[in-house]
Amino acid sequence: MNASLSSLSDLSGLSGLSGLSLREAVPSDVDDVTALENRAFPVPWKRAYFAAEVGEPFRFNRVVRDPGGSLAGYLFCAFAAGEIHVHKIAVSETWRRKGVARLLMDDLFSFAERTASDVIYLEVRPSNTPAREFYRTLGFSESGRRRRYYVDGEDALVLSVPVPPPHPA
Ligand SMILES: CC(C)(COP(=O)(O)OP(=O)(O)OC[C@H]1O[C@@H](n2cnc3c(N)ncnc32)[C@H](O)[C@@H]1OP(=O)(O)O)[C@@H](O)C(=O)NCCC(=O)NCCS
Repeated sequence: MNASLSSLSDLSGLSGLSGLSLREAVPSDVDDVTALENRAFPVPWKRAYFAAEVGEPFRFNRVVRDPGGSLAGYLFCAFAAGEIHVHKIAVSETWRRKGVARLLMDDLFSFAERTASDVIYLEVRPSNTPAREFYRTLGFSESGRRRRYYVDGEDALVLSVPVPPPHPA
């Protein structure tokens, strides 16, 4: 499996997402990704974490940019032995509820099927109702709980979905 192959998709055919582009994350994306991360998460990843992930093997790291070049969203994942772990997904405030996260996850499901992966999993805060609802719509279900997973002491729910998902992603 090779996630380092770059691709650029013009999404002008998708309603509401006109002019957005979706492609592999590259080093010049890291500043914008970090800025959105800092707004989107109570305990954000540091810039160095993203910088270290970009371009690494066994990663699936994607960004969506709007027609003006602003970052609309990102998805950072790692994969091994048939399992894909979603490290991070976030969408900028102005692009939320327009299908950007869905677009990123559809791209991930396509990658998962191309690479014959078995499962996609991730951790989410029990308090993160919007994200939990988002994942539910994609067919994720709860498969575990990690006690005090986050540095502020909150548990994590482990959510997973088989590939292909139980209903169309
Ligand atoms: C969670 C997040 C990534 C969703 O991104 P998004 O682009 O707004 O999501 P989409 O527009 O693709 O939503 C698809 C569906 O998910 C569900 N959904 C998404 N956000 C929701 C919300 N705030 N409340 C309820 N349902 C929601 C809806 O069913 C939605 O479809 P609809 O808008 O037609 O009703 C975004 O809210 C975000 O960046 N949050 C902060 C970072 C974060 O918590 N990341 C996840 C960490 S585990």
